[in-house]
Amino acid sequence: MREMVVVLDFGGQYNQLIARRVRDAHVYAELLPYHTSLEKIREKKPIGIILTGGPRSVYEEDAPKCDNGIFELGVPVLGICYGSYLAADYVGGEVLRAPSGEYGKAETEYDVSSILFDGINKKAISWMSHSDYIGSVPADSKVLATTDTCPVAAFSNEQKNIYGVQFHPEVQHTQGGQEILKNFLYKICGAKGDWTMKNYAQEAIETIRKQVGDKKVLLALSGGVDSSVCAVLLHKAIGQNLTCVFVNTGLMRKFEPEEVEKVFTDQFKMNLVHVDAEQRFLEKLAGVVEPEKKRKIIGEEFIRVFEDEAKKIGKVNFLAQGTIYPDVVESGVGDAALIKSHHNVGGLPDHVDFDEIIEPLRELFKDEVRELGEEIGLPHHMVWRQPFPGPGLAIRIIGEVTKPKLDLLRDVDFIFRDEIAKAGLDEKIWQYFAVLTDMRSVGVMGDERTYDYTVALRGVTSIDAMTADWARIPYETLEVISNRIINEVPHINRLVYDITSKPPATIEWE
Ligand code: XMP
Repeated sequence: MREMVVVLDFGGQYNQLIARRVRDAHVYAELLPYHTSLEKIREKKPIGIILTGGPRSVYEEDAPKCDNGIFELGVPVLGICYGSYLAADYVGGEVLRAPSGEYGKAETEYDVSSILFDGINKKAISWMSHSDYIGSVPADSKVLATTDTCPVAAFSNEQKNIYGVQFHPEVQHTQGGQEILKNFLYKICGAKGDWTMKNYAQEAIETIRKQVGDKKVLLALSGGVDSSVCAVLLHKAIGQNLTCVFVNTGLMRKFEPEEVEKVFTDQFKMNLVHVDAEQRFLEKLAGVVEPEKKRKIIGEEFIRVFEDEAKKIGKVNFLAQGTIYPDVVESGVGDAALIKSHHNVGGLPDHVDFDEIIEPLRELFKDEVRELGEEIGLPHHMVWRQPFPGPGLAIRIIGEVTKPKLDLLRDVDFIFRDEIAKAGLDEKIWQYFAVLTDMRSVGVMGDERTYDYTVALRGVTSIDAMTADWARIPYETLEVISNRIINEVPHINRLVYDITSKPPATIEWE
């Protein structure tokens, strides 16, 4: 059985991050809602339990509470922020309401003789975000850290194997935060640390082989990170029993379809069906200018094309999907999580003849999918490619989408990407692309008046695409890009750089 830690989710904004940090420390962590039954938690045989932070006050009448039985399972418990109040309350401590909340950095003094803070600097910065606080703990517990405003910034009850920290060790602003989590995992829970993508790849391949046997699997391959990793993993497990369908919508970037062929057909020798559906998509999009309508048409058409191909292939036993962990994790407190509306091309086709769904990545975070991709031999540039929306260039052309506009945008986008790579910025900027605006303006080229399109360049830094800042691309690089685009691509006479963050703007223009 895989070694694991249960992270009980009370709805805080960093909860997925806690699970990720635990996994970074090579211990598998699963995020479960706070109201998960004791029975279910016991069945998982966790080596430790972490209670997360949450947006509520313990003083609220319907404040979320877990089954106190978790403190008696005989495994160490670490409460973080809100979770630490529940832990403190259980050991008989006093949780108080602060006159005002504390958010941000706090100078913290640690008891470095404790196991939890072993190897940490005696004084360091921790990151706080709370309105309640622990006032005191009983005599059988120990205060392990203090700040100016928190008399008990951390505590332990070693006899009961319960620990609590007021601050957030999972965020990067907490100095030594990862060390603190590791101390909990390795020195308190006795973890072995067997969660690595090398182990996972082997385990996943075995599992897929057992599940699929010699039956057939069908996968819609977009060339994006998730579906690509999914394809390689499945291919390693079942070889030619996997059929990948790649739909060329005609809305992709320059050389993208060729790249997919090169990697999956030439390199991996996969069973790849390449569907050239450009004409179908262009016909459906003719005359459409409204962004949501474009998205809907593309999503639906994608499913129709995929179904048509599936019909030709006939019955398959499994339909594979590149679903990843953040898509499946259920938040502890429904209304607290920031939910990004999912606008992937796809959804489930109604007319494909399959018996079961297989989702080989559903346990993995995005970083882990990437690490796994590297592990199983997907080329580096595909593993680290920037996000690209399912509806493709259609939502980067304001107004009607036509073939000439797509070709023009492809050329512009190619130059932009080329120069960003040459400047060594391609792995520093989260996403960068060009938008063909619907605006034309007057210019002068070679003594001639021009009346041509304006292109907008967008570059953003981000962690998860929920919020983003515009990337500070050096002027010198922008200058080279501007000259090349104007000189090399006809019908563009003006170039602007988008300097809005998200919010208030979104990353894509449509
Ligand atoms: P927005 O424009 O909402 O985009 O700030 C956030 C992130 O999501 C990507 N995006 C999409 N990804 N299908 C996708 O798979 C889509 O329809 C879609 N629309 C936007 C966008 O590129 C950015 O990374």
